[in-house]
Amino acid sequence: MKIDIQSFSNQYIVRRVDKNDLSKVYALCSKNSLYYQYCPPIVTEQSIIDDMNALPANKSFNDKYYLGYFDSDKLIAVMDFIMAYPDEKTAFIGFFMTDISVQNYGVGSKIIDDLCEYLKTLGLSGVRLGWVKGNPQAEHFWHKNGFKETGISYDTDNYAVIVGHRTL
Ligand SMILES: CC(C)(COP(=O)(O)OP(=O)(O)OC[C@H]1O[C@@H](n2cnc3c(N)ncnc32)[C@H](O)[C@@H]1OP(=O)(O)O)[C@@H](O)C(=O)NCCC(=O)NCCS
Repeated sequence: MKIDIQSFSNQYIVRRVDKNDLSKVYALCSKNSLYYQYCPPIVTEQSIIDDMNALPANKSFNDKYYLGYFDSDKLIAVMDFIMAYPDEKTAFIGFFMTDISVQNYGVGSKIIDDLCEYLKTLGLSGVRLGWVKGNPQAEHFWHKNGFKETGISYDTDNYAVIVGHRTL
């Protein structure tokens, strides 16, 4: 499916970020210490590169978008987005984080709403993601944005992940 990344947002410049943007991505992530308390280990430049190169099973890089949202030059959010996963009608957010300087002003919710609006125009029926069980910030944010527990959860060595879904 052909998608237009810039249509993900009505407000911000959206583009793929890569190794050349590493210092900006690292600066954004490393300030979000609460997230890494629940989802260790703490971020490093190498872990960001690994995430940029990570793919779910049976997916290709055609459907993977490791994105930066920019307000002029300032990186304000990062999203790891997978199209058509786990099925053709569903999109998957592998990671989403805003810069702490803009948090709690509705920026994250606006980004998710704009994304959902666009995905609906493409004919998708839902968005899926996971949050670390017990992370109050992530759980509150995804609930506020219409994501409901699917009943699916899985354990990793360090934490449990709750799988949430928003119907479009
Ligand atoms: C979750 C996150 C993306 C929200 O971004 P944002 O730009 O602040 O989003 P919004 O302003 O739209 O909403 C933030 C909501 O979280 C709430 N919140 C913030 N910190 C919180 C905390 N520690 N505990 C509970 N709720 C919290 C805010 O009160 C607000 O909800 P409200 O409007 O009902 O009061 C951002 O906090 C973040 O990047 N966190 C670290 C990464 C993360 O957890 N990502 C999601 C899991 S993958």
